[in-house]
Amino acid sequence: MDQTVEFICPECRSSLAAHIRHNARFQCSCGAQYEHVDGIYRLVPDDAYLKTFSFQWKKYYNLYDSPEEVAGTERTLRKLHITPELVKGKRVLDVGCGTGRFSRILSDWGATVVAVDLSEAIYVAQKNAGAREGITFAFADLFKLPFPAEYFDVILAWGVLHHTPSTESAFKTVVRHLKAGGVFSVYIYGKSKGSRRRMQNLYRKFTPHLPISVLYAFCLLAAPMYYLYKIPLIGRLLRVLIPMSQQKDYRLRIAETFDEFSPKYAWRHTFPEVHQWFVDVGLKDNAIYDPPILATGIKPFGAV
Ligand SMILES: C[S@@+](CC[C@H](N)C(=O)[O-])C[C@H]1O[C@@H](n2cnc3c(N)ncnc32)[C@H](O)[C@@H]1O
Ligand SMILES: [Zn+2]
Repeated sequence: MDQTVEFICPECRSSLAAHIRHNARFQCSCGAQYEHVDGIYRLVPDDAYLKTFSFQWKKYYNLYDSPEEVAGTERTLRKLHITPELVKGKRVLDVGCGTGRFSRILSDWGATVVAVDLSEAIYVAQKNAGAREGITFAFADLFKLPFPAEYFDVILAWGVLHHTPSTESAFKTVVRHLKAGGVFSVYIYGKSKGSRRRMQNLYRKFTPHLPISVLYAFCLLAAPMYYLYKIPLIGRLLRVLIPMSQQKDYRLRIAETFDEFSPKYAWRHTFPEVHQWFVDVGLKDNAIYDPPILATGIKPFGAV
């Protein structure tokens, strides 16, 4: 039994401690059914509106495994003021964990990590990081997190909140699980202008509605365009007309292009909007960089 993490029922909010069974299904007293199998607590029936992320992360399970990517992920955490000193011995929520790239590092830094995702990425994260001590994996929805309020010392939501039906409501729901004195760090898509972005927005009007395999085939076909982008003038035009990822690494380029065009929700926000959310929920010492919007805030003691 996992002694370190307290689960509550997402439906009736009562403690699940007495009901949890391991490698089995279990039932809350309200009748809701869950399971804990192969190291994953499953609190939802399926991956809801996130089929594209299930596909993407199962295919690209090791996208962030190279030493360069691991170093880049670590740099990202530090940029958000999340350091080994901050998280050691603390309870950290990695919400929308994807492949588990952040959870791995946070665990290596000595944190007790809870990795949550509402896509089948949670299976990938468990495979990637499950051998480490002190990580709990939950297939759950951030709008109905199975944990008490004011429970985590640090919450990280990297590239997640804008992929939900409402970024603002996701932000304000997740932050309820932050303890006083805790740190909330997010990366949210920034709004940007320019012809390339306008073209991406235009394509996105229909790409999320394509069958996943068709869209993925387009991404594969577009990947070699990268070399045509190097041709002066024609390249500049192509970059706008076919606005795919510019990553040098072939797999990263395909995955990023798919990530751009496939999600059902991919909202973009301005600096003042995101800043206002931090103010609305009473976070202090907010550090915001824009664009893209990387932001960190601290919940003061005595805040509601
Ligand atoms: C762009 S990926 C980012 C993954 C990871 N944070 C990273 O940076 O590698 C966004 C993730 O958010 C997850 N997600 C979106 N909506 C969610 C929700 N309501 N509850 C939990 N996870 C969600 C998706 O399934 C996906 O894995
Ligand atoms: Zn219940």
